Amino acid sequence: MDSNLQKVFVARRIPQIGIDSLAQQFAVTVHSGQLPPTRSELLSGVGGCHGILSLLSDRIDGEVMDAAGAQLKVISNFAVGFNNIDVPEATRRGIAVGNTPDVLTDATADIAIALIMATARRLREAWQAVDNLAWKTWEPTGWRGLDLVGSTVGIVGMGRIGSKVAQRLYGGWNMRVLFTAHRAKAEDTFPFPARQVALDELLTNSDFISLHVPLSADTRHLIGAREFGLMKETAVVVNTARGEIINQAALVNALRNKQIFGAGLDVCDPEPLPEYDPLRQCENCLLLPHIGSATYSARDAMAVRAADNLLAGLTGNPLPYPVN
Ligand code: DGY
Repeated sequence: MDSNLQKVFVARRIPQIGIDSLAQQFAVTVHSGQLPPTRSELLSGVGGCHGILSLLSDRIDGEVMDAAGAQLKVISNFAVGFNNIDVPEATRRGIAVGNTPDVLTDATADIAIALIMATARRLREAWQAVDNLAWKTWEPTGWRGLDLVGSTVGIVGMGRIGSKVAQRLYGGWNMRVLFTAHRAKAEDTFPFPARQVALDELLTNSDFISLHVPLSADTRHLIGAREFGLMKETAVVVNTARGEIINQAALVNALRNKQIFGAGLDVCDPEPLPEYDPLRQCENCLLLPHIGSATYSARDAMAVRAADNLLAGLTGNPLPYPVN
């Protein structure tokens, strides 16, 4: 390896297309293995690096930036979300931070739709009945769920992914769309009818509530006991954003007490969910292992964008997908 090359630490094996592109110009070290680097592996792995390619499971804070050294120029997150990075600290040090927007929007919207349908129609319980040999006959009153057609979806955070979810639900099931957004959006912003409302109004009036806000100090535990109390008894809550947006203890109570109909989660807090977490016992909760962006093409495109951010940052150019 040419010792004059700038160094890049890649915190996990990502699709090869991203590694290949980086390896043409930089000395690349990839943390191999299925699990994220431990804190000490991360701190030693980044030592002397000019660029870091991080994942949402890697906490990139001042300590990591110190461990990398003053030559660190760019941190490229292999995700659209970047709550794992201390962005103000990076900015203060003049380190560019990038993410991978857009290329995972459709894949993640599809998973939200899958969770809405699977939770509404109780697929977890139905599949468990097949699996446990509890399926004895066709049951006129068994495994009944909810209709989507003509119902109301509340999109919490009408950004790229939220609006794609709404578009699918309006186009496919003629659902009424309510939404919240951090700034006012004109009625003709979307190619479907949608009404911007306050969060409480959305929670009170929606049949399906789909969460799409980024995780920040403002959105942590945005949905807790008070918010579950506002929802219909037949409400379905779907989260494809970040687990910490829901107060999970309050969710468990709401599910156990049938305060809501069910929850479909692609994300939880923490990830992975510990073996004895009470959420696992809630039959009306379907949990996936954070696979929103897990299609072949989305993950390849994320790898290309993450590499492009590093290439730009390490050659003195503005990042194509900047966060700061
Ligand atoms: C993201 O990109 O933030 C998703 O959670 C993982 O693809």
